[in-house]
This record gives sequence, structure tokens and C-alpha cells, in this order.
Amino acid sequence: MAGGPKKCWPLIGFSLICLKMVASAKTAPEIPTIDQAYSKISNSITVEWTTVPGATSYLLTAEDGDTVIETMVANSPGTVRGLKAATLYQITIRSISATGKSQPSPPKQAKTVLAAPILEVSSPSPDSILVQWEAVYMAIAFSVSIMRANGLGRIWKENTTNISLTFTSLEAGTLYTIKAYAWNANGIPGDDSICNQRTSPRAPANIQVSFDSGALRASVSWAPTEGAFNYTVMALSDSSELSCHTSLSACTISSLQCGTEYLISVLASNDAGSSKSTSAEALKTVACAPGRVTIREDPPGHLSVAWSNVDLGDYYVVFVKSDDGLEVHCNTSLTQCNFLSQCGFTYFISVFAYNKAGQSPLGDVFNYTTAPCCPTDINPVLVSSDRVEIVWSPVRGAELYETTAVDGFTVVECNDTAPACTLSALECDTKYDITVYSFSEARGRNMSCTSRFITTAPCSPEIKNVSKDAFSTINVHWRSTNNDATYTVTAQGEMGLFWCSSTGQSCAMAGLPCGSVFSITAVAETQAGRSLPSYSVPLETVPCCPAGLTVTQVTQSVINVSWTIGTGAQTYVTVLESHTGQSKCLTHQTQCLLGCISCGVNYTVALQAISATGLTADCTYQSYSSSACCPLGVKLYRLGPNGIRIHWQAPRGSANYSTDLYGSKGIFTCAPSAGLSFCDVTKIPCGDVYTVMVSPIAETGLKLTFCPKKIYSVTCSGSTLGMVETSFAKRRKYFFNYCMREFGISYIALSLNPQEQFCFLTSKVDEFLLMETPVRGRTTAPADSTLTAQPRSRSGRESPCSRACRHRRARPVSGGRATELLSPW
Ligand SMILES: *[C@@H]1O[C@H](CO)[C@@H](O)[C@H](O)[C@H]1NC(C)=O
Ligand SMILES: *[C@@H]1O[C@H](CO)[C@@H](O)[C@H](O)[C@H]1NC(C)=O
Ligand SMILES: *[C@@H]1O[C@H](CO)[C@@H](O)[C@H](O)[C@H]1NC(C)=O
Ligand SMILES: *[C@@H]1O[C@H](CO)[C@@H](O)[C@H](O)[C@H]1NC(C)=O
Ligand SMILES: *[C@@H]1O[C@H](CO)[C@@H](O)[C@H](O)[C@H]1NC(C)=O
Ligand SMILES: *[C@@H]1O[C@H](CO)[C@@H](O)[C@H](O)[C@H]1NC(C)=O
Ligand SMILES: *[C@@H]1O[C@H](CO)[C@@H](O)[C@H](O)[C@H]1NC(C)=O
Ligand SMILES: *[C@@H]1O[C@H](CO)[C@@H](O)[C@H](O)[C@H]1NC(C)=O
Ligand SMILES: *[C@@H]1O[C@H](CO)[C@@H](O)[C@H](O)[C@H]1NC(C)=O
Ligand SMILES: *[C@@H]1O[C@H](CO)[C@@H](O)[C@H](O)[C@H]1NC(C)=O
Ligand SMILES: *[C@@H]1O[C@H](CO)[C@@H](O)[C@H](O)[C@H]1NC(C)=O
Repeated sequence: MAGGPKKCWPLIGFSLICLKMVASAKTAPEIPTIDQAYSKISNSITVEWTTVPGATSYLLTAEDGDTVIETMVANSPGTVRGLKAATLYQITIRSISATGKSQPSPPKQAKTVLAAPILEVSSPSPDSILVQWEAVYMAIAFSVSIMRANGLGRIWKENTTNISLTFTSLEAGTLYTIKAYAWNANGIPGDDSICNQRTSPRAPANIQVSFDSGALRASVSWAPTEGAFNYTVMALSDSSELSCHTSLSACTISSLQCGTEYLISVLASNDAGSSKSTSAEALKTVACAPGRVTIREDPPGHLSVAWSNVDLGDYYVVFVKSDDGLEVHCNTSLTQCNFLSQCGFTYFISVFAYNKAGQSPLGDVFNYTTAPCCPTDINPVLVSSDRVEIVWSPVRGAELYETTAVDGFTVVECNDTAPACTLSALECDTKYDITVYSFSEARGRNMSCTSRFITTAPCSPEIKNVSKDAFSTINVHWRSTNNDATYTVTAQGEMGLFWCSSTGQSCAMAGLPCGSVFSITAVAETQAGRSLPSYSVPLETVPCCPAGLTVTQVTQSVINVSWTIGTGAQTYVTVLESHTGQSKCLTHQTQCLLGCISCGVNYTVALQAISATGLTADCTYQSYSSSACCPLGVKLYRLGPNGIRIHWQAPRGSANYSTDLYGSKGIFTCAPSAGLSFCDVTKIPCGDVYTVMVSPIAETGLKLTFCPKKIYSVTCSGSTLGMVETSFAKRRKYFFNYCMREFGISYIALSLNPQEQFCFLTSKVDEFLLMETPVRGRTTAPADSTLTAQPRSRSGRESPCSRACRHRRARPVSGGRATELLSPW
């Protein structure tokens, strides 16, 4: 195949072509002769021969009895490969041309050299290399040499018959080249075996360990050693092994455990092996956080913290931080510490153990909340009969306040988060044991909170009755169950406030003004406070008696009683009473005309002031003496030419009289001697008409003006004096104006004109009488009229008035009409 590899083979192809051109002319070539056959390396033998003409190639044959190995070569020398080491071969050669191949040459013997020893090298220590090999066939000795791979330094050579050799005093961590070969008995060296081996590094020295207690890490550093590729730091404890690797000269071992003792060593390594530091550094880590921490508060105010002992702990520090930020600590080698605590705080407690390595890691932070403080400045702001309002200042730690009021067996409670509480539905006038407990979820009630006694205000008294005694003193009686209470009764009215007080069950109030309305209430008061006022009771005082009462005589039988207003009075009843009878008048007004008055009689005057509700004040006044009686049967007798005797019949009772004659020519008065019932007037001018009146003289000396007048004419002719009845100058009307019925008593009113009304008391009548009648008969003046109304009585009974008026008895009018009665003149 003339194609073949392009670069190298074309040369060979060219010569082949040349050989073919030569050989084609001849037959089989000559037999070559082997000049020399020798072995340089253990698997080949090189043959040198003298070339023969025409030979294009040669066939070398190596034969050792068992095997024959042939190799075609182009020219001398040629080498047979693939032979066994240290073996004797018989070598022949044939020349080959295009026409054929020659006969084999005469054989030549040659022996292959020894095989190279197969080395096994290692560096058992930083300064030695151990070279080992297996026995080599036919070898009797070995030659081993060593030198630095970089060619520097000297070469060490050793001859040995052993199969191992150790080179010592080498440099650590250095790459060496080792060469070895075997010798045979003939002193012929075999194949070389070369390999490189590094010495292992020297152990790291000057190891420094620094421990980071917080991170539980150890930083290890050392002096770097020659030829070390990388380092391994190992931390060994009883239970664990930690390591770190680096190619630098420091590394950090993390995840160390607290409370553990480690041995730290450093291993330097390269491809030849590793060496461990000779001395291991001992490292004690920080102690672990103490566990089983127990916190107790006993007695209150004293916190006791205890914990369990920990390995490697030299002493302990307990930090107690309260929630207001204050921190205290305790330093002890024991396993217990005491602190002072305050109520209402939460304390955060951490326990650390210390040793030379530092502080133990932070364990659990425990907290302890002390019982809430007791409220101190407790103030009841209001104590009433059934309620107590209490306020206090909020205290630390209290989440809730529980207030209880205990009275024997009953308990009133209130719970509130606010620092105030109103206890209601309490019993009045009762002593309660009141406690305000502070409460927290963590500790419950602080049972040592003190109680205080609060007495509720007294119970309201109940007014039982209000009575008046004869001296218009008001007695108020009440009922109440309070202990040691003072009761105050007040009467409140438009006239002002009156009061009395007592510690008993009643009190008397004097001096209440008449004619007034009061509201009476009672209040109890003790040191605890005031009760609610009792229900009020109304009280009306009797009307006031009119301050002044005047009685004036209108006619002989009629008097005008008038009085001032009595406060609180709505109606008045005036009663004039004498042995002869009684005259009464009931009116809303402050005056009254009373008839049926007997002359010359002592009357007691009484007036009742009556309020709207019927309360009656009996008022008494000075007795009234009615005027002396007018004389009867006045007659005039002539005494000579110029004298007149006036004669009368003296009525009952003794009185002094005065006679008056009123004429156009003068007034003539005559006073009779005591006890006489006539009086003589001398020298009276004749020829005149005289009005003659005989009047009794009151004890005061006053002359009455209402006695009947008679008109006489005194003639000069000497005729006898005669009584002349004058006729009225004009007619006048009288009105029985009205008669009303009120309070069961009837009145008849007489009026001289429609505006004036006078009432005369009559007995009871059943109907009103009203009439208007023209006056019949005679009269001189209204003041002189003596008019009496007499009602018809169904029962027929006569009233006191009718008795008094009998001599002027009325004549009943048919058809139920009142009778007008005019006294006969
Ligand atoms: C080792 O043996 C050889 C051959 O016998 C000799 O030439 C050589 O000097 C020897 N080397 C040493 C170090 O003995
Ligand atoms: C060969 O060397 C080994 C180790 O160095 C030694 O124990 C042994 O005795 C040696 N053998 C001879 C024959 O020298
Ligand atoms: C240390 O060096 C050796 C040799 O070069 C290598 O095989 C090994 O992986 C290295 N170790 C580390 C942790 O780098
Ligand atoms: C605790 O006491 C030890 C020795 O008595 C001392 O070295 C250390 O500093 C103290 N620690 C504290 C936090 O006081
Ligand atoms: C206190 O400790 C308890 C349990 O240990 C925890 O539930 C609670 O939250 C802690 N309180 C505070 C204020 O840290
Ligand atoms: C209850 O409160 C008082 C006063 O505030 C305090 O001194 C005491 O320690 C508390 N009681 C308890 C059991 O802590
Ligand atoms: C108040 O709180 C206490 C304790 O929690 C409870 O026993 C009591 O019943 C509560 N009282 C009221 C009135 O809620
Ligand atoms: C008022 O009460 C007192 C005490 O109960 C009693 O003695 C008195 O008789 C009572 N008076 C009247 C008028 O009821
Ligand atoms: C009765 O007296 C009062 C007071 O003096 C007087 O105002 C009144 O007019 C009198 N009435 C008669 C009828 O005289
Ligand atoms: C009336 O009373 C006065 C004085 O009290 C007395 O002097 C007089 O006699 C009495 N008159 C009659 C009629 O009783
Ligand atoms: C009448 O007058 C006399 C003398 O003046 C006197 O003494 C006497 O008391 C008087 N009588 C009466 C009742 O007034």
C-alpha cells in the first residue's frame, strides 16, 4: 500500500520502490551475517548486521525455546521488541527481496537486560523517604539514587541487595526524584525505574487558640510549614470531634459546645502524607447556661432564684431586671441568690455561669410577676344610706380591682379595672368591712390588702304623726332604727324654715307662724353622714286671728263688726254672745253687720278664722257692751209758757240720759238729775218745730245718736203741745238684697242701697229668700231704721235671733217670701 502515513512513510515507500526495481533483476538475496546482537532495555534486543545487496528488508527472529518473535526491519541495526527480560534469545536474520527471502543467518545469542524494579515510595516522616520494590528476576543487587527534583543539591546513591531502602535526613515537604535499577550477576544494570516523591510536611508548630465565648468558636492559628498543601484543625472532646480545613495558616472551628473540654491539634498535609502537631492544646469552652431555674417569692418581697450546677462553671451571675428598667445582679459561686422585690413588678431573670473562657450563653429568660400592690389611698367620696362610692389611686400590677363590702354574712362585690367603685344596695346605718383587692392574672388577689370600716349613712326616718298642742307647738313623731343618730325636722314654708332636732323619736317645734302651709321632713344624721329626707308631711297652721276687731253700734239692735285680715283665713264666723242669746255672722269679708243686739248687754265677742281646708282659729276679743237702751214712751208736757218737760220710761238697766231739742232757733239740751226719768227745759222759743231725742249716755260719756227722734211743734198760741207725725219727705226703698246659705247657716242681708250689704244671722233655712219691696210706713233716716228679717223656719223652731227680735216679729209672707218689717213708729 504505497499510500500510508504521509509525512514519514513516503521516504520508506520511495526506497521500497527502488529495492523492487533492483530485485526484479535477480533471484533470492544473500544471507546476511549478524555482527552483533545486544540488549539495552529489558524487552528488546538490537541486532547489527552487514547489509546484503538486493535485500529490501530483513526479518529478525528471536527465539527462546518457547516463543519465536519476528520483526521486519528495513535496515541495520534493527530491534526486536516484546521480549522477556533477562532471557537468553537465539537471534537469526533473513534478508528479503522482491524475489524472495534468504536462508536464516547463523544464530547469535543475546540476553535481555534486567527489568526495572517496580518502586513503591512513601514518606513515612517529614525527613525520610522509604523506597520499596519487589525482587527482580535475575537481579543480585540494586542501585537506588535520590536527588531533589529541581536538580539542586547532591545526589545520594545507595547499593543494596535488600528490597527496600530508607533515605533519611531529607528536607520536609520537598519533592525528590528517585531512580533505581537492578544488577545481574554479570554486573549489567537493568532498566531504570524513576519516580518522584515528596516528603511529608513537618508538623505545625506554635499553635495559638483563641476562643470566642459568644459565638462558641475557636480560632486556631499556627506557623506555616514547608511543603504543606493544606491543614486540618481537629477539636476532640469526649463525645464529639470537630474539624476545619484550610490551606492558610489559620482556621476557625465553630459549633463548639458549651461546658466541654476540647483538645485542639493541627494536621499539616500534602500529597505525601500528613503530620500532626505533637502537642494538643486544651480548650475549655464556656459553661452552659444553668438550667432548672426556679424562682420563688417567699416571703413577699423576697425573690429567691435557684439553679442547677453546671460543668466548668466557676461562679454564677444572676441578672434581675424589673420592667421599669432597673437591673440588679448577684455574683455567687453557690447555686442560689436572693433579691428584694416590690409588688406589682415583672422581673426578668437570667442566670449566667462564668469561667475563664467567659460567660455562658444566654439561656431562657425567666420572668416572675409579683403580686399587685394594694391600693392605699382609698377614699370614700360619697357615703349615702345605700351606696358608698370609693376611689383610690391606681396601683402597679393591678389588672383588676375587686372591692368587697362585708356585713356579717352578706357580701357586696364589685369588680372594675378602673380605680373606682360604687357599692350599691347597701343597708343603711350599717358598718361594712370594705376591702379593695388588687388582682392580676398571674398572682390573683393580693390577699394582704387591708380593709377598713365604713358605716353607711343613717336610714331615713319615717314621720309617724304630726300633732299640735294647745300652745300651737308642733310635735313631730317619727320612727327610725338608727344608732346614735341626730334627727332634724324641718318645716319649710313660704314664711320661712323652722326646725327642731332631737336624738329621740320626736321633737317639738314652736313658733310656727299662723295661717301658713309647711312641708315637714325629717333627716337623720350620724358621723357617717345624712340620711335621705323622709317623705314629707304637709302641715297647715291655723289661720291667724285678725289683729284688730272693732265693733260699732249702728242702731240700737245692729252693730258693725269689722276686723283686719287674718292670714290664712278664708271665712270668718263672728259670734256675739250674751245671756240673752247669740248673734252670729259668717262671711268671706272682714266686716259684718250683726242684728238682734240687745241694748245694755255685755257680749262676749268671738271670731273664728277658718282656712280653706276648714282649720279654725278661735279668736277671742274684749267683751263688748252694747249701748244703753233708748228710752221708751217719750212724751212732752208743757210747763208754763216757755217750759217743756220731757218724760220717758227708763228701760231696764241704769243709765244717764240726755235730752236734745233741735229747732231752727237753737239746740236745747237738758240733762236730768240722776235717777230721774224726766227733764225740764225752760225758756224754749215757741213757734218752732223741734226734733226731740232722748239718748242714753254711754259710760264713756258719748251720746248715742240713733235713738228715735220725735218732732214736736211748739206753738206760741198757748195751745197744748202735741205730737206731730211728720210725713216722709220722700219715699225710700229698702232692699232685702240677698240671703245666702253657706256652711249650713243662712244669712239674710239687708241693704239700704244695693251696694251695701249687711248680714243678719238667722237660724237654718232651707231656701233662699229674696225680695224687693217698697217701704211702707215711715222713717226719718236710714240710720234710724230698724229692720229685721225673719226667715220662715221649716222646723218652726225659733232662732236665737228671733227671740231677741220678738217684739218686732215678722209676718210671714205668703208664697215663701220674706217679710218686710218696719217697726211701728
Ligand atoms: C555500586 O556498585 C557498582 C558496580 O559494582 C560500583 O560501580 C559503584 O561504585 C557502587 N557504588 C557505591 C556507592 O558503592
Ligand atoms: C533489608 O533491610 C531490612 C530493613 O532495612 C532489614 O531488616 C533486613 O535485615 C535487610 N536484609 C538484608 C539481607 O540486609
Ligand atoms: C489537601 O491536600 C491534598 C493533597 O493535595 C488534597 O488531596 C486534599 O483534598 C486537600 N484537602 C483539602 C481539604 O483541601
Ligand atoms: C463576680 O465575681 C468574680 C470573682 O469574685 C469577679 O471576677 C467577676 O468580675 C464578678 N462578676 C461580676 C459581673 O461582678
Ligand atoms: C413570662 O413567662 C411565660 C412563660 O415562661 C411567658 O408565657 C410569658 O410571655 C412571659 N412574660 C413576659 C412578659 O415575658
Ligand atoms: C400586697 O400588697 C402589699 C402592699 O402593696 C405588698 O407589700 C405585698 O407584697 C403584696 N402581697 C403579696 C402577696 O405580694
Ligand atoms: C369578681 O372577680 C372575682 C375573681 O375573679 C370573682 O370571683 C367574682 O365573682 C367577681 N365578682 C363579680 C361581681 O363579678
Ligand atoms: C303620735 O305618735 C306618738 C308616738 O307613736 C303617739 O304617742 C301619739 O299618740 C301619736 N299621736 C297621734 C295624734 O296619733
Ligand atoms: C262698718 O265698719 C267698717 C269699718 O269701720 C266700715 O268701713 C263700714 O262702712 C261699716 N259698715 C256699715 C254698714 O256701717
Ligand atoms: C257689764 O260689764 C261691766 C264691766 O265689766 C259691769 O260693770 C256691768 O255691770 C255689766 N253690765 C251688765 C248688764 O251685766
Ligand atoms: C250718772 O251720772 C252721775 C253723776 O254725774 C254718775 O255719778 C253716775 O255714775 C252716772 N250713772 C251712769 C250709769 O253712768
